[in-house]
Amino acid sequence: MNHKDRTIRDFGEQWHKYSGNEGYYGSLELFSDILSPFLKPEEIRDCRVAEVGSGTGRIVNMLLSAGARHVIAVEPSDAFEILTENVLDPKKVTCLKMNGEQLPAYGNLDYIFSIGVLHHIPDPTPVVDAAFNALRRGGRFLVWLYGKEGNGLYLAFIRPLRGLTKRLPHFMLASLVEIMYWALVFYIKVCHWLPLPLREYMLSILEKMPPEKRRLIIYDQLNPSYAKYYTKFEAEKLLKDGKFVEIRTHHRHGYSWTVIGTKQ
Ligand SMILES: C[S@@+](CC[C@H](N)C(=O)[O-])C[C@H]1O[C@@H](n2cnc3c(N)ncnc32)[C@H](O)[C@@H]1O
Repeated sequence: MNHKDRTIRDFGEQWHKYSGNEGYYGSLELFSDILSPFLKPEEIRDCRVAEVGSGTGRIVNMLLSAGARHVIAVEPSDAFEILTENVLDPKKVTCLKMNGEQLPAYGNLDYIFSIGVLHHIPDPTPVVDAAFNALRRGGRFLVWLYGKEGNGLYLAFIRPLRGLTKRLPHFMLASLVEIMYWALVFYIKVCHWLPLPLREYMLSILEKMPPEKRRLIIYDQLNPSYAKYYTKFEAEKLLKDGKFVEIRTHHRHGYSWTVIGTKQ
């Protein structure tokens, strides 16, 4: 099985263990943070939108709460059944069980979002092309990616660890996550006093997450078969190569890249 298919299988398993979207993790407050500084949730009101790589439907439900007229939700893994169960207003959502590159060329969508997905796809170019074809002229594609800059120490720790953890069965990985969860609780507390690496992310995002979602976030770092950490240059190039214009990037909380581009 190649990296791409293994990653999709990994997520299918992951979302069956962590299927909910409760608390800050699924909130409009977090959605505002994800969109900032390029969009406000109000700008999505009445729009036709898609989300590529919907997982358990967290972002789909955020889009519905923001007032989207219709949402296309694309999810290729076995999490698809959880997505369909979790969707808040099924009349306004079309769920498609397919890879991002198979997104139909609607040509009339106002926005497409892909949050935490493209960095798990070894060759994301066909997904970017499909997003381009599904948008109307003037439509915008917003992606959120793991960043390389600002993550130096973290990557020195996590990369060798992932070599092992992506091969572990769930019960072993869940036990390791439990240990790391308590280390994280301690780290967040210390961040209140010391300027440790990733402090801003710890205090503005992770501290607000319910305990089970913090466990999921640790699991999500250790489980997927493929994960790339993008430089600013690579993040911009992804959309530039996909013919998008007016590309803008934001170094979100100093550890990740939000990129937005427009179809001319
Ligand atoms: C980290 S999750 C993000 C889920 C959701 N966007 C969120 O923020 O809650 C990544 C998702 O991308 C999906 N995915 C992986 N490869 C994909 C592909 N080639 N096309 C579309 N989605 C893919 C996975 O199955 C997984 O559900």
